[in-house]
Amino acid sequence: MNLSFRERKASGDKFAMLTAYDYPVARLLDESGVDLVLVGDSLGMVVLGYPDTTSVTMEDMLHHCRAVSRGVKSAFVVADLPIGSVDTPELAVQNAILLHEAGAHGVKLEGGVSRCREIAAIVEAGIPVMGHIGMLPQQVRVEGGYKIKGKTPTEAGQLCADAVAVEKAGAFAVVMELVRPEVASKITTAITIPTIGIGSGPDCDGQVLVIHDLVGLFPWFTPKFATPRAQVAGSIREAVQTFVQDTKVAGGLTMEQNILTQPPGANPTPISPSEPNPATLQKPQSSLPADAPAARAASAASFLQSTRTYPTKFHDQSLALEKSLMPGCGSLERKNNQSLCCGNLNSVQGQIEPEAPGC
Ligand code: KIV
Repeated sequence: MNLSFRERKASGDKFAMLTAYDYPVARLLDESGVDLVLVGDSLGMVVLGYPDTTSVTMEDMLHHCRAVSRGVKSAFVVADLPIGSVDTPELAVQNAILLHEAGAHGVKLEGGVSRCREIAAIVEAGIPVMGHIGMLPQQVRVEGGYKIKGKTPTEAGQLCADAVAVEKAGAFAVVMELVRPEVASKITTAITIPTIGIGSGPDCDGQVLVIHDLVGLFPWFTPKFATPRAQVAGSIREAVQTFVQDTKVAGGLTMEQNILTQPPGANPTPISPSEPNPATLQKPQSSLPADAPAARAASAASFLQSTRTYPTKFHDQSLALEKSLMPGCGSLERKNNQSLCCGNLNSVQGQIEPEAPGC
């Protein structure tokens, strides 16, 4: 049975929402069980490198929305209507339809009382709308920073009015950003649609985070309310530094990288789990000594030795590597555990010359 968001709130369900901006992350979120995936205009900062969300265009949103929607099978996809895209109800409907056509199930727009007409018009056009009240990132330049909302009774009253107006206009849920927890808690009890909090305390009906803040993928800035649960930036740096080191110090890719590269068009050879994999048995060290040619030759020799003990599919791959280490050798064969160059590569014509004696 498919319950509406209202019914799910009434039954005590909590909603987990995260942002995604591309196919692989969207797919990972969906496979991990999030309820809602938000193609947020935060993409301006964490993906496009702008200082805030005020440069994000409809074109940007559509591009990323399409990628995200291709990765999601189960979750509800919400896409942000960026700055300038909802200035009138007509414009809001037009842009909401574009995002819907790009794969969004619903759209989100910033503003409470001031945006009721636009919300109502989009809902009337048949597209679900999520409201967004409290700190409005699209207003950050006007407001001069990301400020907590609801600190005074007047501000708290205004927030309540915004939440009620958004609900009355037909929104199915509302994001509350940087709202004082006690105010967010009161609003959550006062309205019947789910409240999704960000930096607004634990009493909202759900929580939303920018995925980069959750997994540590934007290490240059993490909001105070976000606790990274992974250090993806650190893992990327480590992997890249290892690659740079292997390439520069070893003078080329590591043996396993070279060996397991298939020629274009070849069927990849599956490695059966029961069969030892020489690439992992003789895993080259990530930081080879400074004596690069010697280290490379030693590493290759030890790897090749290990592949010789497996007269299997690795044979061809190790032969190819060995050949690449013998400049000018056009055809290589292995006899009695020895490698023989059986044809020389004619460097002028690029052809293999007749077999050498002994082959
Ligand atoms: O754009 C965004 O990521 C958002 C969330 C912060 C709610 O609007």
